[in-house]
Amino acid sequence: MAITITVNGQDHSLDVARDTPLLWAIRDTLGLTGTKFGCGISACGACTMLLNGRAVRSCTLPVSAAEGAAVTTIEGLAREGTPHTVQQAWIAHQVPQWGYCQSGLIMAVAALLDQHPNPSDDEIDAGITNICRCGTFARVRRAIHAITKG
Ligand code: FES
Repeated sequence: MAITITVNGQDHSLDVARDTPLLWAIRDTLGLTGTKFGCGISACGACTMLLNGRAVRSCTLPVSAAEGAAVTTIEGLAREGTPHTVQQAWIAHQVPQWGYCQSGLIMAVAALLDQHPNPSDDEIDAGITNICRCGTFARVRRAIHAITKG
């Protein structure tokens, strides 16, 4: 039975099992491959998307959990061709190194700033638990503080 989800403002009817991980429904069925697969066990954050504005790890979240909710992927973060504030800060502060984990990190930071517009270092540590094997965490923090200072 088809399942309908809204991704980046567009409704899609998907012919997938309800327990298919949201990540694979979006990558394989919709062809939106900006969200990455890392660990598959909700540990690394590479697969982070927004579900009603909150960061979720889509590798273990069944697609059925997104029914009736608004899903935002990295492809939907920019508005009318203008990169999101977090994306702009990532460029300005050259946050990525290898970059595989960065779409998940950007989504997690966008969600954090939505909930905590001026996060402390403790709130950043608690809210951003994504793993970056290049160790860009100092740049991530610098970019977040640059955003909050305007
Ligand atoms: S791939 Fe989902 S948390 Fe690592």
